[in-house]
Amino acid sequence: MRSTIRYSISVLVFSMMYAPLMAQQTNTSATKGLKDYYKDYFTMGVAVSPRALHADEAELVVQQFGSMTPENAMKMGPIHPHENVYSWKDADSILAFAKRNHLKLRGHTLCWHNQAPRWLFTDSATAKLVTKEVLLARLKDHITTVVSKYKGEVYAWDVVNEAVSDNKEEYLRNSLWYQICGDEFIYKAFQWAHEADPNALLFYNDYNEINPVKREKIIRLVKSLQEKGIPINGIGLQGHWAINEPTADQLEQTLKDFSQLKLILQITELDISVYPKEHNARERKPEDVDTSFSLAKEAQQMAEYKTCFEKFRKYKQFITGITFWNISDRSSWLDNFPVRGRKDYPLLFDKYFQPKKAYWEVVKFQ
Ligand code: GLA
Repeated sequence: MRSTIRYSISVLVFSMMYAPLMAQQTNTSATKGLKDYYKDYFTMGVAVSPRALHADEAELVVQQFGSMTPENAMKMGPIHPHENVYSWKDADSILAFAKRNHLKLRGHTLCWHNQAPRWLFTDSATAKLVTKEVLLARLKDHITTVVSKYKGEVYAWDVVNEAVSDNKEEYLRNSLWYQICGDEFIYKAFQWAHEADPNALLFYNDYNEINPVKREKIIRLVKSLQEKGIPINGIGLQGHWAINEPTADQLEQTLKDFSQLKLILQITELDISVYPKEHNARERKPEDVDTSFSLAKEAQQMAEYKTCFEKFRKYKQFITGITFWNISDRSSWLDNFPVRGRKDYPLLFDKYFQPKKAYWEVVKFQ
């Protein structure tokens, strides 16, 4: 009973606070997008699939954003499915759309333990794992080929994705990359990317960066690159967040710590789940049955988006880009993670592509 009353009061207070914004919502100001509101701050971007760009979502992308990241098309598996076969079609169609519509393009990602093609780590004759020399040679071929192909077109690359471990006891992730090459694959990846396109901005990209233990390890890795004179321009904070994290203090500390490195920062995969943060995939439970976008979830999400963008603006001296991971609530990877088939509403546009209340919260600073 008490919690019902508390819930009703909080909904009422929120409705009063945001009534003026709700009124604004009908005025979707078709001529102005996130990119315009934020033109003096950051490039606003979005992760896309080629399919979305051939559908009704394309118009929203052009209206709202100044940059795109291929959601999957440039990952190792999709773009390099067999040892001597590159599949450029999807990446090329995203690039063509970007050029036609004057959007910048971020490349994602040159080296990752997930979505890597099966052939990469194994010897086709023996089916055994390849040696370090072979794997590094394959990585060099991959990076050189992909970065050269998009030289001058992709302005920034997530060179290495998620090489740091989530395990407290472990520094680098115990992936096949690490098992076969030790830490060398990381250094080489940056060096080869730089050689292929000296003007591209090179990022190390990772998640759960608001966790102080993980953050420390990311910083340690980046410093080790800097000490070795390896070219690195920025850190990508994925920003897969939720209604309950990060807190303002966690985000402040995160941005403060990273800003000490004197590198560019970008938020590369922003979304704010309407469910409390969970890090691991799990089975659906009976309590997951309510997947509605309730007023309470909406209010918490607005508050979280507000907190995040206040901090981003505060650190605008370091942050140059913010990319949302997917376009609208019509579909997001969070619809299937951490719980398969549990609908989420993590973005600023609803499934009809209308700006949500959180959108107006994000652009309200001016
Ligand atoms: C990570 C990757 C992204 C994407 C998301 C989930 O954050 O960097 O490419 O796969 O997971 O969709």
